[in-house]
Amino acid sequence: MLRVGLIGCGSIGTVLARAIGEDVVKRVRLDAVYDIDHEKSEELSQMLHPRPFIAPDFNTLLHQSLDIIIEAASQEAVTLYGEAILKAQKDLMIMSVGALLQNGLLERLEETAVKCRRRIYIPSGAVAGIDAIKAAALGGLEEVTITTRKPPNGLKGAPFLKEKNIDIENITEPVLVYEGPAEEAVRLFPANVNVAAVLSIAGVGKRKTKVRVIADPGIDTNQHEIKAKGNFGELCCVTKNFPCPDNPKTSYLAALAAIRTLERIASVLRIGT
Ligand SMILES: NC(=O)c1ccc[n+]([C@@H]2O[C@H](COP(=O)([O-])OP(=O)(O)OC[C@H]3O[C@@H](n4cnc5c(N)ncnc54)[C@H](O)[C@@H]3O)[C@@H](O)[C@H]2O)c1
Repeated sequence: MLRVGLIGCGSIGTVLARAIGEDVVKRVRLDAVYDIDHEKSEELSQMLHPRPFIAPDFNTLLHQSLDIIIEAASQEAVTLYGEAILKAQKDLMIMSVGALLQNGLLERLEETAVKCRRRIYIPSGAVAGIDAIKAAALGGLEEVTITTRKPPNGLKGAPFLKEKNIDIENITEPVLVYEGPAEEAVRLFPANVNVAAVLSIAGVGKRKTKVRVIADPGIDTNQHEIKAKGNFGELCCVTKNFPCPDNPKTSYLAALAAIRTLERIASVLRIGT
């Protein structure tokens, strides 16, 4: 039985915890949850049967007997807790992947994981195509671009929009609000372009992966289009995601991808690259 701890009891955490509770994932048990907002962990714990232990703080969570801790909280949580989790001899699953592209965090966590003989799992998240990009990267990739198109309320609060004083609330047509490398995009849109971070780690890296962000008032899904060229040929992959009901920034598929990753860890069968 894989013993799981969860940081972040919001949209993704809730879908994930309920799937574990409803036995969608076999051989997995949610033993403990932690959220900086205590009400969120209480609320989630009450929905579940059996009820997981509610850790009052991160250190208490860290001292539970757990095999893996899933971060479904924020980039800050990855930065604050990532290394400590691995050093406490627990595996780590990361949803706020954008954090890994900043201040050499990916490299630091990888080094710690090697030293501590633990693993770091990064689900493919809310996009299709990561399996092909991983394989294609081996043969040489020339170009990888991701265009993320969201309804304006899905981009609300992004630091880039505030910084540049861009108002997208009253737009009537699609607007290209940002174009740049993944390394910069994850800082400017921390809650919106985690998929760009996953893509860059799987493919050509944070500087060569190009990101475009479009605010589109005419859509009600979060859309990601990945285009890649290389020695393998060409790839174009579009995902049109329904948002989670209580968080328009997050796609439901991201939570489903986390559930599948957990299942893969606990299972003897491995499908896909
Ligand atoms: N990899 C992907 O494809 C993908 C897709 C969507 C969202 N995400 C990311 O996953 C994370 C969770 O998404 P969500 O939609 O569930 O968010 P959410 O806002 O619905 O829930 C996040 C929860 O984490 C808690 N939290 C935040 N910082 C914390 C900290 N330092 N310590 C403890 N708890 C903390 C919050 O109180 C909140 O309850 C976000 O960072 C989001 O950007 C990743």
